[in-house]
Amino acid sequence: MIYTRIVGSGSFLPSTVVSNNDLAKDLLCRGIHTSDDWIVQRTGIKQRYVADVDVNTSHMAVESARMALIDSGIDASDIDLIIVATSTPDCVFPSTACVVQSKLNASRAAAFDLQAACSGFIYSLSTAESFICSGKAKNVLVIGAEKFSRILDWNDRSTCVLFGDGAGAFVLTASYDCGILSSCISSDGSISDILSVSGHFDRGNVNGCPFVRMDGQSVFKNAVYVLEESARAVCDKACVDINSINWFIPHQANIRIIKMLSRRLGISNDKFVITVDKHANTSAASIPLAFNVAKLDGRIKNGDLVLIQGVGGGFTWGSLLVRI
Ligand code: ACO
Repeated sequence: MIYTRIVGSGSFLPSTVVSNNDLAKDLLCRGIHTSDDWIVQRTGIKQRYVADVDVNTSHMAVESARMALIDSGIDASDIDLIIVATSTPDCVFPSTACVVQSKLNASRAAAFDLQAACSGFIYSLSTAESFICSGKAKNVLVIGAEKFSRILDWNDRSTCVLFGDGAGAFVLTASYDCGILSSCISSDGSISDILSVSGHFDRGNVNGCPFVRMDGQSVFKNAVYVLEESARAVCDKACVDINSINWFIPHQANIRIIKMLSRRLGISNDKFVITVDKHANTSAASIPLAFNVAKLDGRIKNGDLVLIQGVGGGFTWGSLLVRI
């Protein structure tokens, strides 16, 4: 049996930290009122990282990938496939993955972007697993990278306080020992309007809205429901008792979603890796960023069973159970 094993991880955060108080002061200059109290109470977010104008998604992706490659001990020239999960690519094409491939000198790698909003990293891991288990690739680099600050309406306090920029990467390889035990990805396009960026180019114009628009309460309800359902589904698929999982890494959008999920699953909050307070919601980058924090601080160890979960625009969601 061939497994898909995580053999390296890396992350990158821009150098500028914007606290809730900094953001509230900035928004007040535009006549928009918010506060640290409101943001912390409703979301758990205390700060976010924001990339400078000249730092684009591929830059952050490359930096996180370099760290993951060093961690894995695998050379860029041995990577067969690069997948970049992003909703904020540098441009329409070439794909951000091709820019990364060139900058890393990963000369053998095929490269493409995958767009599934905040679920992009889970979708990409699941895709990488299919390539590896079918024998089409041995080593795959999966990156989640976002410059969400580019697509935020800084006059809309209900969305602009929620997101941040950053990138995270995994190096995956074929293994006979352990790795991904089960995964599932799902979507429901019929509720796509609850979270979207509808803008698109048309003959030199941007048609539709170029900013994130969200019905926060619908997203909240749907996110809790699908995260619980897919957590149980991957456990059933792998015949794993949910109580034996060491670490839960759900998409980092909102502490209230995570707490409600932990209650509904009957799992202690202590088993959940939380980074939404420091990173805010970094969309496709949130899971590898959180994973890397918990790996570097020694919480996630070899042999641990980890549940990784994404949910976001589309509407999309997915879960993946992995033995480290
Ligand atoms: N600061 C101060 N007040 C605000 C702000 C703000 N930043 N944003 C909204 N408000 C106000 C509203 O105007 C409203 O005022 P009103 O009562 O005078 O009309 C009041 O706060 C309540 O607004 P709601 O939208 O009802 O606030 P809610 O309690 O639903 O919280 C939130 C909003 C945090 C977005 C919540 O709906 C939520 O957690 N949704 C989950 C969605 C999420 O986390 N999305 C992240 C991206 S999606 C993803 O990654 C899956």
